[in-house]
Amino acid sequence: MTRRRDPWLRPGRHSVVTGGSSGLGLEISRQLVARGVSVTLLARDESRLAAAAESLRARAASGTEVGTLSVDIGDADGVVGALGTLAGTHPFELLVNSAGIMREGYFETLPATAFTEVMDINFHGTVKVIRAALPHLPHPGGRIVTIASIAGLTGVFGYTPYCAAKHALVGFTDALRFELEPQGLEIHLICPGEFDSPLVAALDATRTPENRAHTLTIPKVDVAQIATQTLDAVDSGREQVIPGRIPALMSAGRRLFPATGRMIGRRKIAAVYRGPRTSRRP
Ligand SMILES: NC(=O)c1ccc[n+]([C@@H]2O[C@H](COP(=O)([O-])OP(=O)(O)OC[C@H]3O[C@@H](n4cnc5c(N)ncnc54)[C@H](OP(=O)(O)O)[C@@H]3O)[C@@H](O)[C@H]2O)c1
Repeated sequence: MTRRRDPWLRPGRHSVVTGGSSGLGLEISRQLVARGVSVTLLARDESRLAAAAESLRARAASGTEVGTLSVDIGDADGVVGALGTLAGTHPFELLVNSAGIMREGYFETLPATAFTEVMDINFHGTVKVIRAALPHLPHPGGRIVTIASIAGLTGVFGYTPYCAAKHALVGFTDALRFELEPQGLEIHLICPGEFDSPLVAALDATRTPENRAHTLTIPKVDVAQIATQTLDAVDSGREQVIPGRIPALMSAGRRLFPATGRMIGRRKIAAVYRGPRTSRRP
């Protein structure tokens, strides 16, 4: 649902961006800073955080601050402590949840830890951050963004852990929206298709050919466009965005004609099918 209203993002506001040191989180942070919104980047690796913050500060107008928090979103106490301390000195009104990891492979050969790791970070980690941030967001007026994926709306070859976690995140976000709305808080769900980032560069080194063929049924969208559409959703109050015109149209097509969507996917997969490395077939 889109409502007409004044842009919500404006100089003087402060945001926290998980995964802000890389990829989409970094690009969203860049665009927030360009709009005069102060940003605190949250991720684990301190040197990547410092480099990202430095690159943003170089472009920030005076009065726009860039800070960092080195926290593992899997550590509930660490997240509660870090966000509580931050809110005491730098109250924030926007939380963007972009932190995420990837494990891809044939279900039969993926280690069991792939499922626990991906669920722990992409789903439980995001829930932990939202739970910790909620008491500090203004009621009414606070805004939350969850970065899910098209893989949270449909199945993708090789993504059994990732799809499970992103589907959970989509359901969580849709349910939480009903609870936050009466308190004057908004939550925006962003479901991008594949885009170039360090996560995808690492994935490319090991991914199955079936995953590559199936994923790229939907063309890649530039990360800058995804970030712009994310921030436009915050400004306009849009609840859910599938960034890019073609991915949005293709997703709508899949919802309306699921059998056709599955047929196209099956054909793409069949053209390159290699199967699990250790086949258990007789
Ligand atoms: N790239 C795609 O094609 C694509 C498509 C759809 C959706 N997405 C989603 O978009 C989001 C961003 O992806 P990306 O491609 O931009 O990934 P990326 O470049 O790998 O960035 C991931 C960020 O998350 C942080 N992070 C990972 N684990 C963390 C943890 N346990 N605690 C705190 N921070 C953590 C990383 O920093 P540290 O490692 O230093 O902690 C990094 O800043 C993810 O949620 C991903 O699932 C990506």
